[in-house]
Amino acid sequence: MLIAVYNLKGGVGKTTTVVNLAFASAQSGARTLIWDLDAQAAATYYLRLKPSLDKGSKGLFAKKKGAFKEVCSSEIHNLYAIPADYSLRKIDQHLKNQKGFASAVKPLSKAFDAVLFDCPPMAGAAIEDLLGVVDAVVVPLIPTTLSMRTFHQMKQKLAHPKTLPFFNLVDRRKRMHRDICEYARLNDEGFLETIIPSASDIEKMGLECAPLGVFASNSPLVRSYQLLWDEIVRAAF
Ligand SMILES: Nc1ncnc2c1ncn2[C@@H]1O[C@H](COP(=O)(O)OP(=O)(O)OP(=O)(O)O)[C@@H](O)[C@H]1O
Ligand SMILES: [Mg+2]
Repeated sequence: MLIAVYNLKGGVGKTTTVVNLAFASAQSGARTLIWDLDAQAAATYYLRLKPSLDKGSKGLFAKKKGAFKEVCSSEIHNLYAIPADYSLRKIDQHLKNQKGFASAVKPLSKAFDAVLFDCPPMAGAAIEDLLGVVDAVVVPLIPTTLSMRTFHQMKQKLAHPKTLPFFNLVDRRKRMHRDICEYARLNDEGFLETIIPSASDIEKMGLECAPLGVFASNSPLVRSYQLLWDEIVRAAF
């Protein structure tokens, strides 16, 4: 199962979502891989891995198992990663004249039950190529008017049959957040039901360098990410 977490908008919680969903998947017993595609290497940082690719982003698409050779184990059981480094800023250029994601993911699909891609907040040839091979695109959204506007523009361009938006960073004290979540639930098909609130425990991931479940295993949010993951798995097939 190949899942991209993507939004053209920055700072909406893509990386946070990838890391916590991958933890939920790994905990359920599935061999899980995070492929960090963002030159910022934030998912790599959350997993305490070195932001370094042996052959740079060019090597990821080399003929003989390029991406597969970059797989590292994390400190978490069942959870692996292909780290990011700064060379990924040129991924569109590096993908030219090479076989793209369709070929790179083949050995990964055999070795892992779930592969989650942490996408950068940009559009381009690499993102388009990736979205052509994944089973679903999960889209974290903050419930604001501009965020919804970008989503509707992006949805038409993405045209992926399994585009799965959900609300993140929700503050129920804010009337606009409550109204937008309710409006989407009633009028916008395909929204996932699980809502992730804005929570200081989630922000602490940056200090702890770990998924929420590692340092706050009793938090109800760990269960929320598990429910979100279950919903995605059901919706992706
Ligand atoms: N539900 C949440 N509650 C509180 N803070 C959150 C939540 N989700 C994300 N954040 C915080 O918001 C910030 C942005 O999150 P994150 O890095 O996951 O977004 P992103 O979409 O991956 O950003 P970028 O577009 O730069 O890759 C981080 O500081 C993160 O800790
Ligand atoms: Mg990110």
